[in-house]
Amino acid sequence: LSSYPSYIDLLPSIQTCNITNLPENYFLKYYLYHALTWPQLSFVAVVRPRNGYKQGSGNGLSGVGAAGDVSGQYPKVVGYVLAKMEEEPTDGKQHGHITSLSVMRTHRRLGIAERLMRMSRKELISRVRMHGEANGYTERAMAESHRAHFVSLHVRMSNVAALRLYRDTLGFEVEKVESGYYADGEDAYAMHLNLQNMW
Ligand code: ACO
Repeated sequence: LSSYPSYIDLLPSIQTCNITNLPENYFLKYYLYHALTWPQLSFVAVVRPRNGYKQGSGNGLSGVGAAGDVSGQYPKVVGYVLAKMEEEPTDGKQHGHITSLSVMRTHRRLGIAERLMRMSRKELISRVRMHGEANGYTERAMAESHRAHFVSLHVRMSNVAALRLYRDTLGFEVEKVESGYYADGEDAYAMHLNLQNMW
């Protein structure tokens, strides 16, 4: 996909999508860290620019569909899922974590969030290769050790839309309530989706 914009080209648009939709925001370097460390796990939904894409040099994220039309050289990100592997799991079980998910208001209820989440889940189930691994035994060993047992996330207790998506559409379960998890003091549901039965 050499004509597709690089992940770095899309970073500002991903960040804009995040800032527009959620109070939990991150430095650009945190998005970059996700893409460099777990390039298979995060996805974006974009609307195509009118005159095609500006050339890029490889991409860390993948577009998951396009709708509408915008002017400008780069596609506009209308949805993203930012996902990672938990780096120091307390129970020793490799698992994925959804750092952030959002979809622009203009593009909601079209199934974008569901699709982004399912694409990330598919990668977590199959195998998560570390960036830069060569083919062969090393890669297979890494693939085994990085397969996710489950995927976790946090969501505000008041976030009805996201809760419906996670629990009813995707099958996540509430593991516990984390009191005062958010900066404004709101509690979070810590949610889990078991992946072992999907391996
Ligand atoms: N009310 C009730 N249920 C909803 C709603 C809603 N407003 N939105 C989605 N759902 C549920 C429905 O079951 C829906 O299926 P249906 O349309 O067949 O009924 C299902 O989720 C799938 O909906 P999608 O169209 O895939 O969801 P969408 O693309 O609109 O995105 C999202 C949902 C991400 C929650 C969006 O509303 C959003 O960006 N909200 C603001 C940001 C946010 O809250 N992000 C999640 C924070 S938690 C975290 O980041 C880990």
